[in-house]
Amino acid sequence: MPPTNSEFSRPLAVVTGASAGLGKVFARQLAERGFDLLLVARDKDRLLALGDELSLQYAISAEAWPADLSRDEGMRTLAEKLAKDPRVMVLVNNAGFGTKGKLATRPVSEQATMLELHVMAPFLLTRAVLPGMIERREGRIITVSSVASFTASAGGVNYCATKAYQRVMMESLALELAGTGVKVQALCPGFTHTEFHERMQIDKTKGIPSWAWLEAERVVRDSLDAAFGDGPVVVIPGKRYKLMVAVLKHLPGFIKRPMQNRYARARLEQKRSE
Ligand SMILES: NC(=O)c1ccc[n+]([C@@H]2O[C@H](COP(=O)([O-])OP(=O)(O)OC[C@H]3O[C@@H](n4cnc5c(N)ncnc54)[C@H](OP(=O)(O)O)[C@@H]3O)[C@@H](O)[C@H]2O)c1
Repeated sequence: MPPTNSEFSRPLAVVTGASAGLGKVFARQLAERGFDLLLVARDKDRLLALGDELSLQYAISAEAWPADLSRDEGMRTLAEKLAKDPRVMVLVNNAGFGTKGKLATRPVSEQATMLELHVMAPFLLTRAVLPGMIERREGRIITVSSVASFTASAGGVNYCATKAYQRVMMESLALELAGTGVKVQALCPGFTHTEFHERMQIDKTKGIPSWAWLEAERVVRDSLDAAFGDGPVVVIPGKRYKLMVAVLKHLPGFIKRPMQNRYARARLEQKRSE
């Protein structure tokens, strides 16, 4: 699906959470591939700066679309815009955040925000672009889930649950879209160097071994190579994480549960000590 060179017929890639981390890298690599960009996040200044930089460097056009996608108005206004734009060829549902601490003590509003951002926003945006993509018989939808979608974790109840929703939504949608020319993907990275852990006030040097960390550039490249090539619906960057997921999927519960509980207890103790 190579974009054309004409400024007026260049296809559009929409990236949510484009102001930082994986979203910013998605924007850069999609610009490199010749897409115009619609950059979505709350931080308008960062979006404008990124848009200026990428349009200069790659001779594409980039629009900043500041929005809080956990809010009804933010997600609906964007969904309406996307539904009307025939240039949308790529949607990356990437905006997200994590929290630490047990569900019983976390503020309800914070957890509700996570459900809106991780569940309602990707659903509405995906639903908005699908009819046009199916009609045009081309399109790519990537939703950034996580290896956490394959696990249960104390201290990450809604994170694991919403990431599982995202993965299963993409897997089920892939079945519905067979033969339509539209391809969807659930990207399931493990620990990746972005702002994600700083925003959660987690010290990345403690508790997580250095070999477990992935670079955002590599995660995004694996995702886009799979999406524009012959890749699978569920993309798990890195051999170690592929192996981990295979083990998690096939280990019987009586072995898996004690392992998960031990890991979750260690993570909670580490978070408490920070
Ligand atoms: N890093 C990891 O280890 C890891 C592993 C697996 C999966 N993931 C997933 O990867 C995705 C991207 O995270 P990241 O690691 O790149 O984290 P990040 O560096 O913290 O970036 C998060 C992005 O989401 C945006 N965002 C957050 N809340 C938003 C809201 N209410 N409305 C609109 N945009 C919002 C942020 O922008 P503003 O603050 O400007 O709004 C930012 O651009 C997330 O879905 C995360 O769950 C990350």
